[in-house]
This record gives sequence, C-alpha cells and structure tokens, in this order.
Amino acid sequence: LASIQYDVSPIAEGQSVTIMWRGLPVFVRHRTEREIEEARAVPLSDLKDPETDEARVKEGHAEWLIMIANCTHLGCIPTGQSGDFDGWFCPCHGSHYDSSGRIRRGPAPANLVVPPYEFVSDTLVQIG
Ligand code: FES
Repeated sequence: LASIQYDVSPIAEGQSVTIMWRGLPVFVRHRTEREIEEARAVPLSDLKDPETDEARVKEGHAEWLIMIANCTHLGCIPTGQSGDFDGWFCPCHGSHYDSSGRIRRGPAPANLVVPPYEFVSDTLVQIG
C-alpha cells in the first residue's frame, strides 16, 4: 500500500510508537509542550541542516512529530528520549538528534526525514 492511516489517539503525551510504512520504520511521537518549546527556541544558525520546527510538523498538530526512523548516517534506528538534545541518539556512531529530529551532533549529515503525511481528522493521520 502506498499510504496508510493510523489512529494516534492512544499515544499518550511523551510517548511514541514505531509503525511500518512502505517497509520503513516510522516514528510517531507525541511531544510534550516543553519539547516543542525547546525545539522552537533553537536558532537556525546552530543547525547543521537548518530547518525550523514549524516546517517539520503540521500547523495545529505541533505535538505530533512523524519521521522515518532511520539515522541519516548509515540507517540505524536511533533510540528515543535520549542523547544530549532531548530527542534521539543513534548508538551506531553517535549521532544526536533534537526534539524536532534535527541532527545536532555526530556524523549524520541531515535531519531525520519527515515523510509526506496529513491529518485527515484530529486523531487520524495518513502517511504517504
Ligand atoms: Fe547513526 Fe551512523 S548510523 S550515527
């Protein structure tokens, strides 16, 4: 299937799940207010792959961060709620991602990839 629909309502704030889309693992994270604020406070000049947090989420749904779960270095799956930037840490070679999934330190060249998606209702997301 090219696209999937997923009901995010069971995912509590601060939790995330990993689902499969086109054979790829995808993180669906329900961010806390603090994580969103942290991500939005980072100056673009601090970023290796400059992208605003706003550009990585949907307006009105900033608590949902949806990203392909493969490190942009060599594809390992980073661990959530870890690393030095309140986001993800890739144990393979030590890449740290922030609470917006943006690369902050380590060998990965780019931010975790946001797949095409949209909210078809407040709780139902369509990926792809
Ligand atoms: Fe993640 Fe190398 S694969 S740091």
